[in-house]
Amino acid sequence: MIPSLLPTYNRVPLAFAEGQGSWLVTDGGERYLDLGAGIAVNALGHAHPALVEAITDQAAKLWHVSNLYEIPGQQALADALVEKTFADTVFFTNSGTEACELAVKMARKYWYDEGDHDCVEIIGFEGSFHGRSSAGIAAAGGEKLTTGFGPLLPGFTHLPFGDLDALKDAISDTTAAVIIEPVQGEGGIRPVSDADLKQIREICDEAGVLLIFDEVQCGVGRTGKLFAHEWAGVVPDIMMVAKGIGGGFPLGAVLATEDAASGMVAGTHGSTYGGNPLACAVGGKVLEIVSDEAFLAEVNRKAGLLRQKLEGLVAEHPAVFDSVRGSGLMLGLKCKAPNTDVLSACYDADVLVVPAGDNVLRLLPALNIDDKDINAALERLNTAAEAVETAIAAQEEQDA
Ligand SMILES: Cc1ncc(COP(=O)(O)O)c(C=O)c1O
Repeated sequence: MIPSLLPTYNRVPLAFAEGQGSWLVTDGGERYLDLGAGIAVNALGHAHPALVEAITDQAAKLWHVSNLYEIPGQQALADALVEKTFADTVFFTNSGTEACELAVKMARKYWYDEGDHDCVEIIGFEGSFHGRSSAGIAAAGGEKLTTGFGPLLPGFTHLPFGDLDALKDAISDTTAAVIIEPVQGEGGIRPVSDADLKQIREICDEAGVLLIFDEVQCGVGRTGKLFAHEWAGVVPDIMMVAKGIGGGFPLGAVLATEDAASGMVAGTHGSTYGGNPLACAVGGKVLEIVSDEAFLAEVNRKAGLLRQKLEGLVAEHPAVFDSVRGSGLMLGLKCKAPNTDVLSACYDADVLVVPAGDNVLRLLPALNIDDKDINAALERLNTAAEAVETAIAAQEEQDA
């Protein structure tokens, strides 16, 4: 019999009752060190006092009004994002996949309004993830995402990750935009090098094609800059944001230049909840904290510390791990043992990490994780790695 919850998730049998900072506590009082942060959502950890205050204050005043009316908190958050980024304008969504929907619509509408009605193709890269909506799965294109859901939204091409020659060849008169995650998340924490991002920008400029960055996972301070593309010194025309911007409250956004957004006039797009007063009260506070230079400097320092310790972990457990990769506090442990085995051992060691493609385990801790929690994380990851080593040795003995 089908469960009352549609069984689309492979859930582990863990239920949390409370969270504080980088820790989650089960009903039974068991404490887990959270290095997943809701897959890069809880950017400031659990129950951050400033976020609790922001949402409580707003909840006592006004939860929701329609976008039929002015929403001052939404305006303030848009102004702040415009001030701090390449963007001239912002639309608020509830999720990353809704941001993808709008990014695709915006790119196509741009060319439509230019009179170029055939210019609809969007080029993406293998291993990417842009959400679970019809545009999201078509944009990413992986078999696991798309099988059984056809006919897929047409007009998407996928190129091998990092193949810029293929990109040059693939761009044609019908190309509307290129979409790329500056650091692939679900695909296995695969950063696009700064040089490659620069080149992609140049290729798009030469061909007169729009460039969409998907910073749903890698944005909002995660890599140690407010947005990951800042490391490469290039800007997109359109950017998708979600996850961390709401700190745990559902909030996403599409940021764009005035030119790229020029087709999105009144009546072309909308969202009932997008950017409601509750979401924007939290988002405004998250942005205020995360965009502070001193905060970002700390993210970089913690990232250096965690990475150095992870390199040590990998060196100590060569049968379990292959390497560390990623950027800032968006780190991947490329495993030699099956990542699912290492993940189970992590659960047993009361530490939460997140599986990703390419046999990687993701570490996406709260951006304000304490140094002592980084040390605790390493102890627990070490315990997990030892357990996997013991299991490998037992298996080898049995096979001998
Ligand atoms: C890079 C990227 N884009 C888009 C999405 C979709 O976001 P959401 O799950 O909020 O729809 C995700 C979610 O994991 C993501 O990592």
